[in-house]
Amino acid sequence: MPRTAFAGTGFYVPDRVVKNDELTQYMDTSDEWIIERTGIQERRWVTDGMTSAEMACRASKMAISAAGIEPGEIDAIVLGTLSPDVFFPGTGVFLQRDLGLEGIPALDVRAQCSGFVYGLSVADAWIKSGQYRTILLVGVEIHSTGIDVSTRGRDLAVLFGDGAGAAVLTATDEQDRGVLSTHIHADGNHAEMLWTEAAGSKNHPRISAEDIAAGRHYPRMEGREVFKHAVKRMPEVVMEALEANDLTTNDIDLLIPHQANLRISQMVQRRLGLEDDQVVNNIQRYGNTTAATIPIALAEAVRDERLERGDLLCLVAFGSGLTWGSALVRW
Ligand code: UT7
Repeated sequence: MPRTAFAGTGFYVPDRVVKNDELTQYMDTSDEWIIERTGIQERRWVTDGMTSAEMACRASKMAISAAGIEPGEIDAIVLGTLSPDVFFPGTGVFLQRDLGLEGIPALDVRAQCSGFVYGLSVADAWIKSGQYRTILLVGVEIHSTGIDVSTRGRDLAVLFGDGAGAAVLTATDEQDRGVLSTHIHADGNHAEMLWTEAAGSKNHPRISAEDIAAGRHYPRMEGREVFKHAVKRMPEVVMEALEANDLTTNDIDLLIPHQANLRISQMVQRRLGLEDDQVVNNIQRYGNTTAATIPIALAEAVRDERLERGDLLCLVAFGSGLTWGSALVRW
């Protein structure tokens, strides 16, 4: 059976840097509060004209170039996002068009912050089954056009940023490298703990003036509750992956956690007994880019030569849904 190898990675973030101090012009917050509670110092916001498909395309081209393949070699696109450019169709088809890959399937994954790990699970199964040999896996998000930057929305508005990350996955017959396993979960009992209620097809009409007045078109979160679930589920699903492969935390060379809050990542690190240099954190510079955090962090880790052939890489995600998941990769 073939295995799934990471052949190339890439990322793109918008040029516009939004520092914490800028946010104090729009809402009652402070640089100190944001850094102390989240670790975030700045994030990127798109400027008018930039779309999530365009960001995904830039990240993808970098990943394709790093993989040393031609775009035409890609058999399928899997794209995670909670912020598609339009309600439908998904962003994957716009990316497919921009890359000139007419005909190949483009699957959007709706698993929020777990979108990249969920997408990896699907792509890995397709590659192992022999259905496809080369898959472009992308996570992309534009939050800045959909957050409440008034004081009412400050708990969420300070967290989120825009960006895209991509990876080219290829089938390999080498049995000593590639994805070892993926583990994905969900608990819809807490679906409303972090959600955007409108526009939605359950509403008649999908969005009303009343929805807008009440801010139901903005994401809402029970932050403390989400936090508690995150610090429980992330270590748990890492342990599940390790146990499935007869490995222990001592075997992990690099952990890339979803970048939701630096305090969450630090608690996950402590619970797993990992050192600082074994964990990738870039939330300080990008905030939470949801489905894009893991592929952006992975692309930066590759660029910074933090992974060597044979290393054990662990990806772990948690987010709205609730959804969570992990993957172990022999680099
Ligand atoms: O990626 C998907 C998963 N997302 C997450 O995992 C996020 C999980 N949650 C969190 O990261 C944290 O809960 C937050 C960063 C959202 C909030 O931090 P917290 O330490 O849990 O603060 P809190 O919600 O308990 O609020 C404490 C205080 C409140 O004021 P009072 O009621 O104590 O007077 C908030 O109104 O901080 C206030 N507050 C703020 N103050 C300044 C909330 N947001 C802000 C803000 N600036 N931006």
